[in-house]
Amino acid sequence: MPKRLSRVQFVKLGASVFGAAAGAYLLYEGAPWLNSRKEAARVRRPLEPASKGTSRMHEWVRYATLAASGHNAQPWKFRIEENTIQIHPDSARHLPAVDPIDRELWISLGCALENLTLAARSAGFESEIIYPGSNDWIQIDFNQAKPEEGAHFASIRHRQNTRSPYDHQKVGAAELAKVMSIPVEHGIELHLFDSPSSTENVLEYVTAGNLSQFRDRAFIQELVEWIRFDKREALASMDGLFSLCMGTPAVPRWLGQQVVRHMDPQSQADADANLLRSSAGAIAISSTKEDKTAWVRTGQVYQRLALRLTSLNIKSAFLNQPNEVAEVRKQFQTALGFGDALPQLLLRFGYANPMPSSLRRSVDDVIVAV
Ligand SMILES: Cc1cc2nc3c(=O)[nH]c(=O)nc-3n(C[C@H](O)[C@H](O)[C@H](O)COP(=O)(O)O)c2cc1C
Repeated sequence: MPKRLSRVQFVKLGASVFGAAAGAYLLYEGAPWLNSRKEAARVRRPLEPASKGTSRMHEWVRYATLAASGHNAQPWKFRIEENTIQIHPDSARHLPAVDPIDRELWISLGCALENLTLAARSAGFESEIIYPGSNDWIQIDFNQAKPEEGAHFASIRHRQNTRSPYDHQKVGAAELAKVMSIPVEHGIELHLFDSPSSTENVLEYVTAGNLSQFRDRAFIQELVEWIRFDKREALASMDGLFSLCMGTPAVPRWLGQQVVRHMDPQSQADADANLLRSSAGAIAISSTKEDKTAWVRTGQVYQRLALRLTSLNIKSAFLNQPNEVAEVRKQFQTALGFGDALPQLLLRFGYANPMPSSLRRSVDDVIVAV
């Protein structure tokens, strides 16, 4: 008869098996071929200046893809023709739970558009933009102009959503004036909240949005699908919300899913409250209209704002909960004095060290045939 294990022996055996499995997992995550930092740097390599014709446009597209996008879904497709690039939505990458009307999808295309025009300008091409209307895409026609490489262009490779706590330091008035003076697009406005009381007002709606989202199963399920819980997953897809960029440890998917699914809504809201309170303030972006063109213009202005902040070594990160839950958005609009303008985006800003950078799919994966 084999001897039965005592309870203590059983627990010890379980702990050793678990320890060995966790050790093997961590060793694998540290494997030299899973080098996510190297990949993040590779996708952000400087623009190839010598490239000509179509390959030059491929480089502009690579810079466009370095833009922000909701859940890093990269919901874009680019069509290159002579002297023209079209940016199309990739509906297979839309986010029905968090973004049921594709508002943030079109904002993401606007972010990519801003980077694209800056890259083209650095190579000596001015952009003429045709916004979506009768067409369901954005078209950019290029005309030769003087090459210009400003601070925004130089910041494209370094901009990131820095989701860590900031250092509570205020941003000086002169710097803040430089931030708030970026050129805005037609119908788009910036709103600054940098006093402790105004930040607390904003926080009320971030909290309300968080509580609603983290009680919504569809939202959680979509979030889980877009989180890349470890390097292996992140490098396989080159998209999504990579744990390292969110400041959370790499874990296997089965474990990460359980943690996210059982996240307490109030703890999530408290964590975001601490992040906002560690920041120098918040900026909202609003639009007078609610259509694809207004969303694209919002994206352009966000990207411009984030590049200006980056060029001043100021970090920023989105807290879009108040704009993503319809009822909360209405209350946010009224309570924060937006008037008729619709809040579209909200970000916090301040000082912090950079975090690991997110990944992007290759240019070949986002260019479609004419
Ligand atoms: C329209 C839009 C909404 C976003 N909402 C959030 C958000 O609520 N919270 C957040 O942490 N990041 C948000 N992001 C940031 C993306 O997750 C981020 O851009 C993406 O993961 C790529 O990372 P990067 O911006 O650091 O390059 C949003 C981005 C866009 C364009």
